[in-house]
Amino acid sequence: MGVAIVTGGSRGLGYETARALTDAGHRVVLVAKDPERLSQSAARLNCEYRAVDLGDIDSARTVFQEILETFGTPEILVLAHGVMSEKMSKTLRTTNEEWRRVMAINLDSVFTAINILGAAMAQARNGRIIVYSACLGRMSGPGNAGGLAPYRISKAGVNALVRNLAHETAHGTRGLLVDAICPNHTRTDMGGPDAPLSIEEGADTAIWLATRPFDPAVDKTGFLWEERRIIDW
Ligand SMILES: NC(=O)c1ccc[n+]([C@@H]2O[C@H](COP(=O)([O-])OP(=O)(O)OC[C@H]3O[C@@H](n4cnc5c(N)ncnc54)[C@H](OP(=O)(O)O)[C@@H]3O)[C@@H](O)[C@H]2O)c1
Repeated sequence: MGVAIVTGGSRGLGYETARALTDAGHRVVLVAKDPERLSQSAARLNCEYRAVDLGDIDSARTVFQEILETFGTPEILVLAHGVMSEKMSKTLRTTNEEWRRVMAINLDSVFTAINILGAAMAQARNGRIIVYSACLGRMSGPGNAGGLAPYRISKAGVNALVRNLAHETAHGTRGLLVDAICPNHTRTDMGGPDAPLSIEEGADTAIWLATRPFDPAVDKTGFLWEERRIIDW
């Protein structure tokens, strides 16, 4: 089993995904911001970790580069970090600071991680990239239907990035699988205690995408997934 990098791996859906990949025998590296929480989570999973503020694009680049040099090209990259925008963050009220904070963490660092680690995976013609998106970022269904503008629009950007990358990497035919997922409303710090899904249920599709057998002749990659099914972007 190869190396798996999991951002947002200190808690919530990222931690649950990392736990499953550790159980499956991968050498897992957790990435998150708070060094204390991260070191405790890494100790529980007996895995490596790197603490970084992914809201700082230069620090993010430095850390992903160091991870690549230290651990080699990963087999699995799960991007599960993210922040919600402030409650009243409508387009006409949001400040520059709030817009930049959410875009930097939710979108810019997804680009940076893929730009560095994904490039090595594409060159190796092997691996899987799974990005936690959100239904609130869809251009269909509940999607971009108003409110929480920085969050929704950052996730719409994530969807566009993943779809574009899937086309750039020829939909799995060159060995790299690239997918986005909607975990749905899950009981994490972000989702809150009243969310309908348990953490295990919320993380199921990402774990499945990271570990499923894949036959390029029949299986699909390069899509947005929910409950193991492809849904409209
Ligand atoms: N929960 C839901 O209902 C739901 C629904 C749809 C989509 N999602 C998406 O699923 C993903 C995981 O969500 P979750 O519910 O597990 O969230 P969570 O419990 O709030 O955990 C967020 C994770 O992101 C990390 N993070 C936040 N800001 C960071 C920064 N500046 N630099 C580095 N790491 C940072 C946190 O690290 P620290 O511990 O160091 O702060 C933590 O590991 C997110 O992308 C979220 O948008 C969640």
